[in-house]
Amino acid sequence: MGVETTTLFINGEKRTFSMGDHFGQVPYSETLLETLRDRLGLTAAKKSCDEGACGCCTVIKDGDAVPSCMLLTADCEGAHITTLEGLADPETGELNPVQQAFLDYNAFQCGFCTPGIIMSTQALLNKNPRPTQEEVRDALSGNYCRCISHYHVFEAIDSLAGRGVDLDEKWRDRR
Ligand code: FES
Ligand code: FES
Repeated sequence: MGVETTTLFINGEKRTFSMGDHFGQVPYSETLLETLRDRLGLTAAKKSCDEGACGCCTVIKDGDAVPSCMLLTADCEGAHITTLEGLADPETGELNPVQQAFLDYNAFQCGFCTPGIIMSTQALLNKNPRPTQEEVRDALSGNYCRCISHYHVFEAIDSLAGRGVDLDEKWRDRR
């Protein structure tokens, strides 16, 4: 029997992992968050509660914002994953509109929760470029911020929604 593998597309890059308990393999019990952070060095998604309650580990999986601490890598075969690292233009480093708006509105304090909030925002705007305030609050209901940055977060998102931000193809494809 051949070695089992799991293939994911992470920030547009195909990554195939050998599954198992030997050195270098990905255990079947490993979460997507652990794979991203510990194996691939993609540390924007943060481990905080590690039980699906805070949203700090949010990434986009096949278009939806999901807590990566609650997913097993082994269960993500064929999935398209976008992390915060996948949002900026890979060639120029130019921030995408959501990242730029968060900077413009100082929509963070310590920043620990911010990658998760940005990914939830990105997932929302990919599907609904003109969300109402209620839809924004609903989309962010799983993201907690101990520093109470939400006021500025909502301002940043409202600025995008108010402009009917056009996350053009260039950005929209990156998910
Ligand atoms: S660390 Fe995943 S939801 Fe809190
Ligand atoms: S900015 Fe500190 S936890 Fe949100």
